[in-house]
Amino acid sequence: MTPEQITKSSADKVKGKILIVEDDEGMRFFLSEALEKEGYYFQVVESGEKAIKLFAQEIFDLVILDYNLPEMNGMETFTGIKDKFPDVVAILITAFGSKDLAITAMEQGVFDYFNKPLEIGELRVVIRRGLERAFMQREVYQLRSQLETDYSFDRILGSSKAMSDVIERVRKVATSDVSVLIQGESGTGKELVAQALYAHSQRSKGPFIKVNCAAVPQELMEAEFFGYEKGAFTGAHKQKRGKFELANEGTLFLDEIGDMPLVTQMKILRVIQENELERVGGEVSIPVEFRLITATHRDLEKAVAQGEFREDLFYRLNVVSVVLPPLRNRKEDIPILVKHFLGVYSEKFKKNLKGFSSEAMESFLQHSWPGNVRELENVIQRCMVLSYDKIMGNKELLEIYPLLAGSSREVSASASLQNKLEVLVSDAEETLILEALKEENWKRQETADRLGISRKSLHNKMKKYDLGSSD
Ligand SMILES: Nc1ncnc2c1ncn2[C@@H]1O[C@H](COP(=O)(O)OP(=O)(O)OP(=O)(O)O)[C@@H](O)[C@H]1O
Ligand SMILES: [Mg+2]
Repeated sequence: MTPEQITKSSADKVKGKILIVEDDEGMRFFLSEALEKEGYYFQVVESGEKAIKLFAQEIFDLVILDYNLPEMNGMETFTGIKDKFPDVVAILITAFGSKDLAITAMEQGVFDYFNKPLEIGELRVVIRRGLERAFMQREVYQLRSQLETDYSFDRILGSSKAMSDVIERVRKVATSDVSVLIQGESGTGKELVAQALYAHSQRSKGPFIKVNCAAVPQELMEAEFFGYEKGAFTGAHKQKRGKFELANEGTLFLDEIGDMPLVTQMKILRVIQENELERVGGEVSIPVEFRLITATHRDLEKAVAQGEFREDLFYRLNVVSVVLPPLRNRKEDIPILVKHFLGVYSEKFKKNLKGFSSEAMESFLQHSWPGNVRELENVIQRCMVLSYDKIMGNKELLEIYPLLAGSSREVSASASLQNKLEVLVSDAEETLILEALKEENWKRQETADRLGISRKSLHNKMKKYDLGSSD
């Protein structure tokens, strides 16, 4: 038989694809005979170089390598294949008595080895086991990638029907260039969706410009959105480009669009319709072109009905809508999210909290999660910092986050409404401050301005909630 000859077994059921790398004519014949009898599909090459080349063109389940090959030896060939196909299952044929070599090979990831002279019964067993390993690896791989495609997109996780639908929708619209309106309660992942839409869009290499409409005071909105010319108003020392202009040829994400005053709504509608803008104090029209993604926690349709949001703008924004369900309506997602955040924060804080007792998990499932995924994330973060054990019990969890006990009768009886309110309010406050700090890169003055409180008061609150160093 000539090298590289393609031999297809007579059996119609393909049991596995095997590549033999062997330069010795006699051995090639022996192996071919044996494999043919077993009904495997196989190919034979006589050198390592050829094996590596062939592997790049075709997938094999198993490779049988002779150690003593001309030029590249069997181990070098194995390494060459493994570089590109880390899961390759390989069997090495070694000369009689080279046990040390065989052991080294196995340490480096070779599945098994034969000593010459080959014994046919042994050969059969080892090949079958090798193939089983390959098939099992493939199955695991397929299951894993199936899991990943079903339960996540980008960084959006969720196995519930409601979230799978959202994920499917986001995946579909990401590549189209249409405007997307993302709606959902606070902390449901609106920004995450916006980022995923951008990352998987045709404009992923263009800019992604985010504006939080709720954070820009009304009198500054125009300047922030459209920019200004030098001398346009007191304080305009030099010309500045606005966010809309910066987003040119990219993606503009208008967060909390529901909080935009009607006057500003009218102005941005004009830009969206005409694809051009004028800077404040400027006279020339500047062409702009971007994909628009908007988000809000408000019910925009209701706002339209109440005359608080322009209907024409609403239709412009809402070409496709993505509505994120609140966490309390998809509690199946809680375990996945808990696990995810445990992974993220154990890495980040170098702590080893691995999970929660089943009683504690029950508390997670019973809570109504008014702050949605963000609230859950904060809880895990807090547990991670304060934990000593690998598994946290319910008692410790409730001490760390008393709100989780909300539905348990004991606590409802003992805690007065006032108490609960206090916990609720300070919790919300802490979350808000932390978010603002993050958004402002932990710059104190900017954060205080954003929150509309004094720097001193921010300092005190950071101390109270133990947020970062309160310099
Ligand atoms: N489905 C999800 N999978 C993984 N992480 C999520 C998911 N949803 C939200 N998160 C995480 O929860 C946090 C809050 O999400 P995000 O900021 O996107 O919410 P939001 O809806 O924009 O909230 P807000 O209305 O308060 O601005 C983020 O850290 C985000 O990564
Ligand atoms: Mg947001």
